[in-house]
Amino acid sequence: MADEQHTVTQVTKAVIPVAGLGTRFLPATKSTPKEMLPIVDKPAIQYVVEEAVSAGLGDVLMITGRNKRSIEDHFDRAYELEEALRVKDDIDRLNAVRESSELAQVHYVRQGEPRGLGHAVLCGAAHVGDEPFAVLLGDDLIGARETLLKRMIEVRQTYGGSVIALMEVAPEQASLYGCAAIRPTDESDVVTVTDLVEKPPVGQAPSRWAIIGRYICDPAVFDVLRKTPPGRGGEIQLTDALRELARSGPEQGGPVHGVLFRGQRYDTGNKIDYLRTVVEFACDRPDLAEEFLPWLRDFLAEHGTDSTE
Ligand code: G1P
Repeated sequence: MADEQHTVTQVTKAVIPVAGLGTRFLPATKSTPKEMLPIVDKPAIQYVVEEAVSAGLGDVLMITGRNKRSIEDHFDRAYELEEALRVKDDIDRLNAVRESSELAQVHYVRQGEPRGLGHAVLCGAAHVGDEPFAVLLGDDLIGARETLLKRMIEVRQTYGGSVIALMEVAPEQASLYGCAAIRPTDESDVVTVTDLVEKPPVGQAPSRWAIIGRYICDPAVFDVLRKTPPGRGGEIQLTDALRELARSGPEQGGPVHGVLFRGQRYDTGNKIDYLRTVVEFACDRPDLAEEFLPWLRDFLAEHGTDSTE
């Protein structure tokens, strides 16, 4: 059960790794970070920062790399643009431009070399210090109405240790994710994680519960990461460090719990899922849906027939 020390340590910081090369979206990502690709009219990364802020995490650390400077510009003021909009009295756009610079306290650390997600998280050690913190991966967007991150913070306050978000996937999809072996708790949406495997070979996943990119990590993860050897893909894996913590007692930073998530999650990490996400977000926008949905219906009526025809 809850350790006193854990219940009093608030989670206030979010770490967002954004150093990936984005090779799946070349040539668009040749000089633009994949995190800056728009979902309708906002870059994907802004939704992630908004999610962190709405869970009370106003201190955001991005782990960046080369060619990521436009992310910094996006979360900074843009004086010339703001002035031009002010002169035109274009207040709506002025507000839209200022919004991202006022969202959170955004900090940056560079990863230097691409040694994996675990290494990226370790780059945040000095900024995070000795506090539990959230990790949000930019390829996964969580529906704005969901309260997953808040629930994960609550679970950390109750049980201590670390918390991961788990989503049930089809067995043939499991090898694309980190997968968890789990044991039920008294709460229907919370499980104890007994083992973790990063991208298990097809047919060897311990369950259908896959890690989606949301974590609350105990600061003990940093010491474990320092000792974690390269794993899957020759990279230092966060999943491997959490596996170690899942097997540890509270003195060593354990346990690890999972929150079972059954809500809206959007993948933006590959082209098909990215397209789906853009369409779903557009259909959910009151200012666009009225015009976009009838067009989409017509388009599908014309093109959505049996492909063998
Ligand atoms: C990362 C993690 C993996 C997790 C996934 C969720 O993998 O390593 O455990 O399931 O994110 O999106 P990536 O997709 O970055 O290869």
